[in-house]
Amino acid sequence: MSEYKRILLGVSGGIAAYKSAELVRLIRKRGAEVRVVMTASAMQFVSPLTFQALSGNAVQTDLLDAESENAMDHISLARWADAMVIAPATANVIAKLSHGLADDLLSTLYLAATVPVYIAPAMNQAMWAKPVTQNNIATLRQHGVQVIGPEPGEQACGETGLGRMSEPSDICARLFAGLAVRCLEGLNVLISAGPTREPLDPVRYLSNRSSGKMGYALAEAARNAGAAVTLVSGPVSLAPPAHVETVRVETAAQMYEAVLTRAEASDIYIGAAAVADYTPAVTQPGKIKKEGEQTHLILQKTGDILAAVAALGRRPFTVGFAAETDDLKAYARDKLARKNLDMIAANWVGRGSGGFESEQNALEVFWKDGKKSLAMTGKPRLAEQLIELIAERRAVTGRK
Ligand code: C5P
Repeated sequence: MSEYKRILLGVSGGIAAYKSAELVRLIRKRGAEVRVVMTASAMQFVSPLTFQALSGNAVQTDLLDAESENAMDHISLARWADAMVIAPATANVIAKLSHGLADDLLSTLYLAATVPVYIAPAMNQAMWAKPVTQNNIATLRQHGVQVIGPEPGEQACGETGLGRMSEPSDICARLFAGLAVRCLEGLNVLISAGPTREPLDPVRYLSNRSSGKMGYALAEAARNAGAAVTLVSGPVSLAPPAHVETVRVETAAQMYEAVLTRAEASDIYIGAAAVADYTPAVTQPGKIKKEGEQTHLILQKTGDILAAVAALGRRPFTVGFAAETDDLKAYARDKLARKNLDMIAANWVGRGSGGFESEQNALEVFWKDGKKSLAMTGKPRLAEQLIELIAERRAVTGRK
């Protein structure tokens, strides 16, 4: 299939529902037919007549709609569509879908759908940040749902943060790009993510604040772009992405081993892990005792995984990360050259600037004779942009 021809648009009850009217117009402009399903609360925000006029089809709102001659039953409607988009997707709808509830037409359609499903969440930033919502989103992602946005910015409630629905033009672009941008089709992509833990004794370790979110988002984006993905992950609290081979490791030495044994068989390696630069020279067999006012640790430098991959004979296209608190450009360019990388993605850390532990991030990406800035957005969207850029640069350099 070259493009979706029949789109089922689900509208749930958020203030962003008015933006979905524009989405209908944009999808139709691409030549696709649209049928709209609204939840009861969506109709409090926008009239079904608006969507009927824009889509040219009667809007369905009830699970049991024997009255309307235009109504398709929910199974026929789910089979009719090439793709389903839910925009806006409220926290409530996301919770229902992730748990398989089916108590109205929209949630029943989701359960009956066998086609690609996209959701564009929209809600107050605190509701989005709530762990239960994040868990529900992670579940939906694992089930293959493609999540578009949300975006940062000012919200209808007056607060500022992550939770605005993506612009209709972006949702439309993603919807149709999902098919077109299989930019890593048939390639093997190796990604390392998360922190490492360097044991001091049986109960203590040295580690860092990396959440693994960026690396996991990259693994999902690369998989969606058609790659066979292997993810070497340090200890994180994220669920392994569906259809990605995930290898769990703990220490820098284990990560080194896991990456180096797989690197030559890979077309692309992305080092998104926050690898410990130093590890205790000795791991004490018993718990270290509290003695004296001061104590000393002797630390030993770890092997640089990224530099080792870049030094391989049959090296993959090698991409590093640089998390910096100052002089971003100079340090990133220095690492690019010193480690002989094809590309480096640099971001600020500290100063409340995204990066570690954050849901969003911005990147300055450098290569030998160029650079590109990727603006602050949610890590999944940022990961897609970086994957597209990697595919583009790899094609230009002709590596492997
Ligand atoms: O030199 P620095 O640690 O700042 O470089 C960061 C980049 O190098 C990241 O991509 C990180 O994954 C990688 N790295 C590595 N092995 C190490 C240390 C860092 O691959 N031992």
